[in-house]
This record gives sequence, C-alpha cells and structure tokens, in this order.
Amino acid sequence: MPREIITLQVGQCGNQVGCEFWKQIVKEHGIRPDGIIEDFARDGYDRKDVFFYQADDEHYIPRALLIDLEPRVISNIRNSEHKNLFNPENFYISEHGGGAGNNWASGFEQGGKISEKIFDMIDREADGSDNLQAFNICHSTAGGTGSGLGSYLLENLHDRYPKKILQTFSVFPSQESERGSDVVVQPYNTILTTKRLTQNVDSCVVLDNAALHSIAVEKLLIPNPDFTVINKLVATVMSACTATLRYPTYIHNDLQSILSPLIPVPKLHFLMTGYTPLAVAESESTVARTTALDVMRRLLNTKNMMMNVGARALNSKINHVYISLLNIIQGDVDPTDCYKSLTRIRQRNLVKFISWAPAAPELVLARRSPYIETRNKVSGLMLRKSHHRFFVVSSICDGL
Ligand code: GTP
Repeated sequence: MPREIITLQVGQCGNQVGCEFWKQIVKEHGIRPDGIIEDFARDGYDRKDVFFYQADDEHYIPRALLIDLEPRVISNIRNSEHKNLFNPENFYISEHGGGAGNNWASGFEQGGKISEKIFDMIDREADGSDNLQAFNICHSTAGGTGSGLGSYLLENLHDRYPKKILQTFSVFPSQESERGSDVVVQPYNTILTTKRLTQNVDSCVVLDNAALHSIAVEKLLIPNPDFTVINKLVATVMSACTATLRYPTYIHNDLQSILSPLIPVPKLHFLMTGYTPLAVAESESTVARTTALDVMRRLLNTKNMMMNVGARALNSKINHVYISLLNIIQGDVDPTDCYKSLTRIRQRNLVKFISWAPAAPELVLARRSPYIETRNKVSGLMLRKSHHRFFVVSSICDGL
C-alpha cells in the first residue's frame, strides 16, 4: 500500500522551491510537464502514488497545495509549462491579494480568517489518500506568508493530524552574509516561526540562502546564481530525501524509518543537509570521479552543507560533534564497498559523536531514477543533527 505524502507550498519562497521539486520528480518518474506519463515509464518499478494520484483522464496530479496571500507567484505557475500538472482546485490565493508585507503577525492573523477554506482543501487531499504518512511543508521563515501563515498551518495541522509526520523544508535567512536579511524584521519573523517549528514539527530540514548561494558560486561555478539555481539545489535535496520512498527497496520504505535514526529525542529535529556531487543540469557535474568513499568524505566537508554554520561555530570544537548522521547513497555502488567506506571513516575518526548517547553514522542505499542520465556513478545526501547553535536557539524558542 502506498504511504502518501501531501506537500504544502506556502508563500513566494515555498511555492518557488516546491515547483522546482515537482519539475525534478516528474522527470524522475517519466511524467511529462502536463502530467501525462511517457510510454517508456508506464511499467516502471517506482511508486508514483507517494507523491501523485491519477485523474480521470489518467494524467498524474501532484498531492500538492499551493497557497499564497498574493497572486504573483501562483499566477506565474499557472502560466508556465507545468500549468496542467496541478489540480486547479489546489491553488489558494487570498482574495485581497496584498500578501503579508513581511509581517509574521499579518500572515498568522490572515491564517485564522482563511483557515476553513485551506483546511477544506487539506482534508480533501487527506481523504483522497489510502494511508497518508506525512505532510511536507516548503516555506521561508523570513517573509510574512511562509512564516506567519506557515506557523498557523503548522499549529493546526499538528492538532488536526497528530499521528501524521510533519516535515518542513525551511529556508532561513542568514546573518553571516550580505544576502542575509533583506528586511529588518526578518529575524523577528524567524524567531516566531522557529518556536512553531520547535513545538509542532517532527523534522525540519534547515536551509539557508547564503550557504546555497556559496555552493552555487564555488561548486557549480555560476557567478550570479538566481533563485532558480538555488531552488534546484533544494529540489535535489528534497528528491534525494524521498528517493527510498519512491524507489522502494526492502528497508527504509517510509519516512519514519529514515527519521528515527536521525532524531534521538523529538525536540532535536532540526537537520542539516549536504549533497554531492551537485549539478544544476544533469550533464554538468564538476566532479570527475565518484566512489562511495569519495562521496562520503565530501559530504563531511562543511562547504557542502546547505546551511551556513558561521565562522565562529566552525572554529569551535562543539560544532564538529554530531548527534546523528545518515548518508543516503544513490547510484552504481556495491553495498560492501559502502560499508567498508563507512568503517574507514569511523576508524580515521573523521566524525565525532556526542559522548552522552550511543551514536554512529547510518547508511541508506537508494535507487536512482532510470530515466535520468547522470555523469556521476555515485551521489550522496547527508542528513545530520549537529550539536550546534540551533540546539540552543530551538531550546530558547521553546521557552518563549
Ligand atoms: P510576504 O511576501 O510577506 O507575503 O511573505 P512570503 O512568505 O511570500 O515571503 P518570501 O517567501 O518572499 O520570504 C522572504 C525570504 O524568502 C527572503 O529571505 C528571500 O530571500 C527568500 N526567498 C524568496 N523567494 C525565494 C526563492 O524562490 N528561493 C529561496 N531559496 N529563497 C527565497
């Protein structure tokens, strides 16, 4: 039986990131931008029903709700080549269309007013699933809609669906660079959202634009990356995180089995990610040779992390201590090689874990889409929980 996931895209950032994710996974499943399946993908072994369902005319529809308080981004999606992919009933644009003006409180308050309509849409999607496992929420914590309305939805989803996993892909502003806070209230919006992320969410993948920007400049050699490039990086992470759910093997077929080794206690659920080798177009990787050991070593490099931990934290020893670490390795690899590489990393003491609980690096082997050609034999995603300032920030927010 499929274990479905419903994706909620909230605000400008949430919708733009979410759409890149759908663009990526339709390609991976051999689905055309209008939702029609390609002939070569009809008998695939993949599970399309985790993220899609079929319409009466058999075209695949994402289990996605696109929500915004201003019309611009959703109108762009409605005019793009993917306009027929989504269910037209799953778009929500606020009637007054003025957005939330980078104000968390405005987004939260508008959430209360439109809650009935939004939860009707969510309940309809949930009722259309046989065995719903999770909600994925894409948003930024810095604007007004993704943070305020996002917080409202998180609180209410947690109450309404207490047994379903809530996972967010949250774009945080970074204080470490000039690309950080565009508006003075961003840190306030973020702290108010972090409280809801601490209390109501089961797993929060933390991303920040400064780190994504440096990865695009340094690793992909793109001098002025725009949001499309940055969002493709996020889509790559989202796709790799869900690879084992969409291309099932004997184990790790549901989100719970991926999250449980990573999250030792419920409150420690803010995860950092890294991915290697990165390529915005499949044919453009800058890494020439990949083996399981190469990929695992590169994943430990902080320059591959999609969250900027900051110079101060990098210099402090505490940042290098992990609470948990999970590598999802995809591609043409021999499982024995992977386990040998993991042992080597452990023997060389490349990863230090906390002393107050038993912990070890975990490995998941995932299959790749057979419909996408990649230059690299092996690729990997690392999800980790570090003993760093998020640990402190989320504890403070919890106490607010
Ligand atoms: P309002 O505009 O106030 O209604 O809220 P919103 O949630 O729509 O705002 P938005 O999503 O634009 O949030 C602002 C933050 O998100 C800023 O830090 C932007 O840098 C960041 N951001 C906006 N669009 C994108 C995007 O497409 N990708 C990424 N990675 N970040 C984005």
